[in-house]
Amino acid sequence: MQKKILSQLGALENLQAQHFQISNLDLVVIKNGSEVSVLYGTCLHRGALLGDGQIGANLICGLHGWDYRYDLGVSEYNNSERLHKFYSEVKDGAVYIDADEIARACGHNKVQDFNFKDLSTTDYSVHQLTGIAYARVNP
Ligand code: FES
Repeated sequence: MQKKILSQLGALENLQAQHFQISNLDLVVIKNGSEVSVLYGTCLHRGALLGDGQIGANLICGLHGWDYRYDLGVSEYNNSERLHKFYSEVKDGAVYIDADEIARACGHNKVQDFNFKDLSTTDYSVHQLTGIAYARVNP
């Protein structure tokens, strides 16, 4: 396991679905107070980005309304379906993910196999300065 920072906790809006993209992997991140869920970010119905969804009692897909428990990723519509929940940990004000798990989900064997095109940033100014892909929907 290689823990890497995904975001600062304070940069995440509380109880809002937020899209992140690492390489070709879409993630939806939901902060609930000091807890954070990092889930596979596309809907199991027709693939809509769940970062565009709404949070009510659950994470609700903006396209056709499938809902998922945002703490577990389990579909309320069909409990046998679930969004993969990625490892995450909040520590010292930052949200950490397991870069090795993310690398495997992106089709790499290890995080060292990533290249420049796999990188993304949640900092818009870093994106503007470096050309690294921006990982959020809105600046
Ligand atoms: S694509 Fe999400 S409910 Fe249809």
